[in-house]
This record gives sequence, structure tokens and C-alpha cells, in this order.
Amino acid sequence: MSIPQASVTVSSSARALQQRAHELIPGGAHTYAKGDDQYPETAPPFVARGKGCHVWDVDGNEYIEYGMGLRSVALGHAFPRVVDAVRKELANGTNFTRPSPLEVEAAEIFLQCVPTAEMVKFAKNGSDATTAAVKLARAHTGRELVAICGDQPFFSTDDWFIGSTAMPGGIPGAIRDLTVKFRYNDAASLEDAFRAHPDRIACVILEAETSVAPQPGFLAAVRSICDRFGALLVLDEMITGFRWDIGGAQRVHEIVPDLSTFGKAIGNGFALAALAGKREIMELGGIRHPLERVFLLSTTHGAETHSLAAGIASMGVYQDEPVIETLYRQGERLQRGVDEVTRRHGIQDYLFALGRPCNLVFATRGPDHLPSQPFRTLFMQEMIASGILAPSFVVSYSHTDEDIDRTIDAVDRAAGVYSRALAGGVDVYLEGRPVKPVFRPYN
Ligand SMILES: Cc1ncc(COP(=O)(O)O)c(C=O)c1O
Repeated sequence: MSIPQASVTVSSSARALQQRAHELIPGGAHTYAKGDDQYPETAPPFVARGKGCHVWDVDGNEYIEYGMGLRSVALGHAFPRVVDAVRKELANGTNFTRPSPLEVEAAEIFLQCVPTAEMVKFAKNGSDATTAAVKLARAHTGRELVAICGDQPFFSTDDWFIGSTAMPGGIPGAIRDLTVKFRYNDAASLEDAFRAHPDRIACVILEAETSVAPQPGFLAAVRSICDRFGALLVLDEMITGFRWDIGGAQRVHEIVPDLSTFGKAIGNGFALAALAGKREIMELGGIRHPLERVFLLSTTHGAETHSLAAGIASMGVYQDEPVIETLYRQGERLQRGVDEVTRRHGIQDYLFALGRPCNLVFATRGPDHLPSQPFRTLFMQEMIASGILAPSFVVSYSHTDEDIDRTIDAVDRAAGVYSRALAGGVDVYLEGRPVKPVFRPYN
């Protein structure tokens, strides 16, 4: 393995490609979270390939990666059992005029993994699944409003959610008015929302847990408030699904949603998402009832065979191998190491890992103890210089002890710089402009 330990430079040809990307693609990338404004200027502008938790940029530099395709590649890049299953279906043809039996096979294995659900429908993007959940809830209840957890970062690329962010450009006020917010770990704020909009809220949507854990009783209170006010509870398991537990955060926290949505890890990076839930509600999208029909998740590419094969293979790996245990074990090893190193540098209150070990993020605070984008940039910059590409500390099944230990060594080195920057000012250590949040009204 040849992970660079000194500063990595970006070649002029990679820089030229980066310029070209901005000429051809708004934002220079098809996903904001991967964009240039999210990374230090020293970051590799492109990743050309990956294997396990290692990736190579277009200049041939190798990195240990965290985050793993926005948390979708939970098993590791090019994971053999998944790639083999996909390759087989590619050779068999990928899209037919009638369904493939893989649709049933994928549904069977999914419903084994997520036993609170009675039916499932697959899609390509998580956003389509959450939007479908909202539509089903509206049809089922005859109500129009959606209550979203306002402290959680993302539910969908669609108007009902983006209209509620700091970047609502292009979304009519009439749509924005249909989304209301409540606060996580604050059941009273949810109850207030219901009282402020009597008989108007169709569903409550939230992630059961993010890097903030639920306080005892909070999720049960959400469940009972939904029942009391006649709304559906939608759990967004896009991140927590197949990571917190094979049955998602709903299993960990023993909460039964009416609908839940999955994506990301379900297909190990292949385009697969799922809407799952109670039969009575899901069947509104079916062809076996006398009620008004709901147009539920029907797209040309929705059931491409190779993505379903990727899902079946990935879910098989989650069932057969100690994936979840490994995510927790490696996260714990990393968290312990980061804690030890930052304490040694005396900066443990400024730079630390937080969240569940299977889904760690890092906090970067400035001298005023507030979250700091310049310090986030500095930390990522110093990690990149040691061959670690880490927008978070989210591990995969492919992260080995050696990868984690190398990462801790890199954190040790970065912590030295971080500590000097806390004392002497961050600007002199930054090799470019700071990163910016995705959701901002202006550039
Ligand atoms: C919690 C959550 N819900 C929904 C989504 C949307 O999923 P997708 O990007 O596949 O549309 C995301 C994506 O980051 C997410 O993190």
C-alpha cells in the first residue's frame, strides 16, 4: 500500500478537468455534497476508482476514504459478492417489458430484514421514496400538511422539503406553506404543531436518530402523538437502515412506523431505494382496491435488474456476515483513537468524533468553541495531506484495523496543526478558501 504521508499535490491536468466540469455541469458535480465548495482546495478534485475503503484520484494518489459514497457504500467499493451479482444480471439484460422475478426476490429479502413492514416498493433515489411516503400519507389521511423534524439535515430533493431550507429558490410559496417543523427531542414542539394546524397534518417525518440520540421516551411520544392526532409516522431510514442494525433504527429503538424509507446502504452504492410499510396504506398504490388510486413510484428505470441484484446481494451480505458488528467495532476503535490523540494535544473540546460508532461524524470548533467552517477545512486539508479523504468518520465493512490506525496517526498529525491554529489563528494554516454549507441562499 502506498498512501502518501507528505502533502499531496493536484496535477495541472486534474485542475483543467475541474475547470471543465464547472463549464459543463452547474456546480461542477451532479451531487452538491461532492462539490468543490464542500472540500478544501487541496482535495483531489476527482476520484477515479475505489477498492474496499481505498480510492485513487485521477493523478494516481491513494487515499483511505470515509463517508463512502454519501454513506451508500457500506460494504466497501467494488465488493465482490455485489459486483458478481450485478455482472450476472448485466449479461442477462437489464430492463424488460414485464417485471423480472428479481422484483419479488428483492421484496422477500427486504421484508425479512425489516419485519415491521408488510409491503415494499423499490425506487432509484431516496428522495423519491420519501416523497412517495408523503403522497401516500396525504392520500390516506385526506390532509395536506407535512411535519418535518427541523433539526435534521435532509429528507428529499423535492419541493416539499427543499422549500423549507435556506435554499428555496424556484419553489412556490403555496408549496412551502404545506411543510411545518418541529424540534428533535422536543415532543411538545410536535404537539404544538398539531394544535396550530388542527386536522391538517398528514404525516410526521423524521430520522429516528442522527448524531444526536433520542432522549428516553421521545420516539414513543412521537408515535403516540401521531396516533392521537390521526397522522402517519414516517421514519426516514436512509442513513440508519442497514447501518444501525439490519432492521434499521426502528429495530434498535423498538418503534413501529406506518411507513419507512430506505436507500443508500441497501444496494452498496447501486441506485436502489425503498418505501416500506403497512399493507393498508401501501395498497393504495396497488390495483386490488376500490378506493381512489395513488400513483406510487413508477419509473422506467425503477426496477433495473442489476440494481435489484445489487440489493439482494448486499442484503444477503448483511444477513450472512458480521457487517453491522464490524461497523460498530471499527467506529469505536477510531473514536477511542481520536479521543486519545486529541486529549494528548489538549484540543479534545475543539476536535472530536461524535454519533453512533457505525456512523461517526467529527466536530470542528474554533477558539470561541463554536462550529467553524475554517477549522473544518483545516482538519480535512491536513487529513488529505496524510492520504485520508474524510468528510466524516463514517466507516465501511472494508475498513481494517490497519486503515483505522493509519487514520488515527493522521489525526495525530492534523491535531498538532489544529492546536497551533487555535492558538495563532487558522488563516495562516489554510491553503485556500474555507468550505461552505450546501444550504445557503447565495454563493
Ligand atoms: C436522511 C436522508 N433522507 C433522504 C435522502 C435522499 O436520498 P437520495 O439522495 O438518494 O435521494 C438523504 C440523502 O442524503 C438522506 O440523508
